[in-house]
Amino acid sequence: MNQAATLKQWKAFCSLDGTGLNGGNGNYNATVSNPRVLCFSSGKGGVGKTSIVTNLAIAISKMGKNVLVLDADLGLANVDVMLGITPKYSIQHVFSGERSLSDIIMRGPGGIRLLPASSGIQELCHLNESEKLFLLNEFDTLEDPVDVMLIDNAAGISDTVMYFNMASQSRVIILTPEPTSITDAYALIKVLSTRYMVKEFSIIVNWTSSRQEAYKIFRQLTAVADRFLGFLSFNFLGHIPKDMSIPKSVRQQKPALELFPESRACKGFRQLAENILNQQVKTSDGNIKFFWKNLLRL
Ligand SMILES: Nc1ncnc2c1ncn2[C@@H]1O[C@H](COP(=O)(O)OP(=O)(O)O)[C@@H](O)[C@H]1O
Ligand SMILES: [Mg+2]
Repeated sequence: MNQAATLKQWKAFCSLDGTGLNGGNGNYNATVSNPRVLCFSSGKGGVGKTSIVTNLAIAISKMGKNVLVLDADLGLANVDVMLGITPKYSIQHVFSGERSLSDIIMRGPGGIRLLPASSGIQELCHLNESEKLFLLNEFDTLEDPVDVMLIDNAAGISDTVMYFNMASQSRVIILTPEPTSITDAYALIKVLSTRYMVKEFSIIVNWTSSRQEAYKIFRQLTAVADRFLGFLSFNFLGHIPKDMSIPKSVRQQKPALELFPESRACKGFRQLAENILNQQVKTSDGNIKFFWKNLLRL
């Protein structure tokens, strides 16, 4: 389908009542058939996004959901490395027309599926408008069911980082107690809220010594945001303690949930998975989303 046709259909959807489908109140539950798409970003790199996304994906899969992980760190992909998978093809082959999206999706541990990106291909960091629209359309061609898609976004505040956020239903920001991580998370929230009108954020605090510390960091971030960015809604999704089971499993290229299922971090991943599946989500904010035709039942 060409860009004009996509945009026309999307506009028709948005003019329905502005609230999306499923009864008109804009909410739906993850247990029904619409894929739930969450984008994990951080501002700063190295805060634990990939560790959290991979383990969370397995935790959600173990709860009976079909989970797809999209490695959206297009230039510096590493979900595959962390899971010990060697992809033959990547999202780059979809853009070049050599492969379809279904061709490149791989099976990962714990029953999850992975859509790999290419490492070290700098041009891929910036998607052009037609690539962005093309990718959104491609997801609706997937035949295997997806209940939950988790996007491991790149660091920074690039246009492509924004795109993956806008094409998702939930925006999850990951930060650590490090001051630079807090300021970079704030910078990301500032751009998303002032330029892209995102008003709701879920927060995960990683690398904490206690729940109290995590909540203190959450309060610090939201107090500054409330003061300088106006009314935004923040949801404390959970925290992951500092735990050596994470770097140990990264070194072995296996998920912590498989190697150290009883570790404190893994208890945190399971709790996060539960919190996510219990969350109510709005389907529409006027931006075209992944699986949008599915939402429209086209
Ligand atoms: N909660 C944690 N406790 C201890 N080490 C962690 C924790 N979270 C992440 N790490 C370590 O931090 C490093 C960076 O994590 P990674 O998931 O690659 O971050 P990002 O994807 O944000 O760049 C990895 O070596 C990982 O083992
Ligand atoms: Mg990463």
